[in-house]
Amino acid sequence: MTRTQQYTAKEFNLSGLKGISDKTLEMHFKLYEGYVKATNTLNKLIANILKDGKVDQEEVPAYSELTRRLGFEYNGMILHELYFENMTSQASTGFKGQDSLEKAIIESFGSFDNWKTDFSSIGKMRGVGWAICYQNPHNGRLSNHWVSLHEFGNVAGFRPLLVMDVWEHAYLLDFQPSQRGEYIESFLLNVNWDVVAKRQ
Ligand SMILES: [Fe+2]
Repeated sequence: MTRTQQYTAKEFNLSGLKGISDKTLEMHFKLYEGYVKATNTLNKLIANILKDGKVDQEEVPAYSELTRRLGFEYNGMILHELYFENMTSQASTGFKGQDSLEKAIIESFGSFDNWKTDFSSIGKMRGVGWAICYQNPHNGRLSNHWVSLHEFGNVAGFRPLLVMDVWEHAYLLDFQPSQRGEYIESFLLNVNWDVVAKRQ
């Protein structure tokens, strides 16, 4: 993908999730579309500046500031896609046929419950951001991480397997700000473990 090609907002069919209302999703999809548009706009503006091979002329940091913004918008777009894709209204509770994923969780955390405590606790940390379960592609081990905003804390080269939005817009229509833990419990009931397992 070059900087001049356009991204388009993807369609997600998530109606009927447990605890996360369709109204929340509708609002959330609109926010996601904003990241798609902003990513496209930044790519276009930066490509335009690059056309004559000259950047930040006369100390005006247009190129630098647009590029600085790119990580926020790109990660905002991609993380929302991963988040929406790893939920389903047809979720089953627990693992069914995702043996390799279950094995990776147990090898990395000792038990699913330990993994869940870690992942949920990271999600409850104060601030806006994401809780993400990554896999190290070199040894298959899983680790959970806090990502501030969208771009700070992602581990380069690691594969994001499970992505959970904990910005307040992800749950404020359904839960109080102090009920983030309940939103996280709901999120975990909606996880599409097939999708998560395939990301390995
Ligand atoms: Fe979000």
